[in-house]
Amino acid sequence: MESENTKSVSRASWSGKWAFILAAAASAVGLGNLWRFPYLAAKYGGGTFLITYLVLVFTFGVSLLLLETALGRKTGQSAIGAFSSFGKKYTFIGVLASAVPFIITPYYCIIGGWVTKYAVSYLGVGAETLADGGTFFSEFITSSTESYIWMIVFMAIVFVVVALGVKGGIEKANLVMMPALIIMAIIIAIYTLTMPGAIDGALYYLTPDFSKFSPELVISALGQMFYSLSLAMGIMITYGSYLNKKESLTSSVVRVGGFDIGVSFLAGLMIVPAAFVAMGSGDAVASSAGPSLMFITLPSVFADMQGMAMVIGFVFFLLVLFAALTSAISLVETLVSIVADGMKCTRKKAIGIVVAFVVIAGIFINAGYNVLSFIEPIGEGSSMLDFADFISNSVMMPIVALLTCIFVGWIIKPKTLIDEVRISSKFKAAGVWTAMIKYIAPVLVLIILVAYVAAQFGFFSM
Ligand code: PHE
Repeated sequence: MESENTKSVSRASWSGKWAFILAAAASAVGLGNLWRFPYLAAKYGGGTFLITYLVLVFTFGVSLLLLETALGRKTGQSAIGAFSSFGKKYTFIGVLASAVPFIITPYYCIIGGWVTKYAVSYLGVGAETLADGGTFFSEFITSSTESYIWMIVFMAIVFVVVALGVKGGIEKANLVMMPALIIMAIIIAIYTLTMPGAIDGALYYLTPDFSKFSPELVISALGQMFYSLSLAMGIMITYGSYLNKKESLTSSVVRVGGFDIGVSFLAGLMIVPAAFVAMGSGDAVASSAGPSLMFITLPSVFADMQGMAMVIGFVFFLLVLFAALTSAISLVETLVSIVADGMKCTRKKAIGIVVAFVVIAGIFINAGYNVLSFIEPIGEGSSMLDFADFISNSVMMPIVALLTCIFVGWIIKPKTLIDEVRISSKFKAAGVWTAMIKYIAPVLVLIILVAYVAAQFGFFSM
């Protein structure tokens, strides 16, 4: 019924359920899995974090994935249209959700540029040069030409894939990059586990240390889950809108969650033991948060691998590049769909607008590392990239998630989406899901929001 008057004529679609699962997984698996997850696991007692994360993804995470994809499929619209189709006064939720990928995409592409540069450098200057304790990295990101060039290279690849279309570009790219990524991750994990001392690192990663269990751990795991599953930013709404009514939503979202956890787990298995060998203890690994783990610590581990240094370094960064590309593709596709739906223009025109926006915003944020480095938006030493990351992940995503849960749980009522899900699957867990969306999720999300903002302003450290 609704679908007929809300679906635009030229709307893209997936070629089937697996294309959708792969695309959602490709969006989910990204830099968050590869650099943030291993570091969080090292920080919060290895297995303790793994178990908590597993539980959260398969309860809370999958419920929200289901909500978003069902909302997208029901309305056949990207975020703004999806919310406004229930009444103009709800448009603002869609607008807020859509603003998130506009903020994330430019800075995600900057980091994508760093990864591209590293992958290529392993083939060029070699492993030793990259392992100089951080000079190479900081000189590169603060450079006034090179950092821009690699950002543009990364963006160009993403734009080309999106321009080739949902079936012709995105599906094909995922079909190549996702399996390749998993194979490379397995090879590297096996290789690093054979390094002397790596088994201790693996044990540190896998054994639960329950003394590290704390509210802070749960909050961090929740925040990670949001980012990692690409929730609360309209991506899954858009992807759901490309799905036809035959495909089961419930089994699809469980698989997406499984994919995401699988890759996060593998990432930990390749990174934690390797970093453990280099740094001598789990606590040392836990202290190297953020970019330094990937761009400074790991290159020094690779450099010690002698003959294999170049190969492992290259394969590792190629894998990271694939993960970053597939996520960036999902971000750009979402922007294109928001612009095309919102301005009622063709896909081609929407791509033009998105390209212009992403390039300009990327240049501006990247300038925060060089010509505009005097701007320190969130405290000393912070960059505009940090600011964009904080606003999108720690402030806007929880707000959007909260509003979305209230919207579905209390305004349009869970039944509206349960009916949608039941078109293609039995959905026996509808009762539990309802409780999740109405009560549990809003409370948890509110806790994350307060905790993140409080931590940022120094009330406690996270
Ligand atoms: N989920 C991706 C990751 O884990 C990141 C991402 C965020 C992708 C937002 C798309 C949108 O890195």
